Amino acid sequence: MHSPRLTYRPIDARDASRIAMLAGDWDIARMTARIPHPYSLVDADQWIASIGSDEFVRAVEHNGELIGAVGYIERDSTQAEIGYWIGKPWWGHGFATEAAQALVRYCFEDVRFKRLTCGHFIDNAASARVIRKLGFRRVGSGSNWCEARKSEVPTIKYARRRPLLGRLRWSDRR
Ligand SMILES: CC(C)(COP(=O)(O)OP(=O)(O)OC[C@H]1O[C@@H](n2cnc3c(N)ncnc32)[C@H](O)[C@@H]1OP(=O)(O)O)[C@@H](O)C(=O)NCCC(=O)NCCS
Repeated sequence: MHSPRLTYRPIDARDASRIAMLAGDWDIARMTARIPHPYSLVDADQWIASIGSDEFVRAVEHNGELIGAVGYIERDSTQAEIGYWIGKPWWGHGFATEAAQALVRYCFEDVRFKRLTCGHFIDNAASARVIRKLGFRRVGSGSNWCEARKSEVPTIKYARRRPLLGRLRWSDRR
């Protein structure tokens, strides 16, 4: 994976304290399904150790420091669900869009998934905007468990199919 301003690398145990600090922020945890709140070092350690063979997770780095994470969970050999978060100090600079675009390109062009899905909680307008910029279309709604809120939260679901021809283009997806 590559993109102009960001670099991507596997996550390992040394990232646990920084991930616990950044993703432990309530405004991040409450928008994700699995991050608890509070989010301890032990929790982050356990999450890193539990990343399975059906998952792909990359640290997102800017100027050599970890600012977030992107990844996917494989649903079957043809499709996967993507997810991402960016640390609060770096919000509003287009980093989630850039990182998620790089992930989508990797999923379609390198892994060759035919279909990607994603979703956001109903109160997550920023993620809704990112997903639309990625060219996903709304395919339904439902509810998903939110570990931080300890409740089910209404969720909007999206999907995008791999383009049939040529490289992915983004400029026309605003
Ligand atoms: C959602 C998140 C990844 C966005 O990160 P980011 O780097 O700030 O995103 P970007 O800068 O690439 O794009 C954000 C877009 O949302 C818009 N936006 C931000 N807050 C908004 C709000 N309250 N209402 C509407 N749009 C909003 C921005 O204006 C921007 O759109 P634009 O480029 O058209 O101006 C980040 O807020 C985050 O990590 N949140 C917590 C975890 C999370 O929600 N993960 C996704 C789970 S589905």
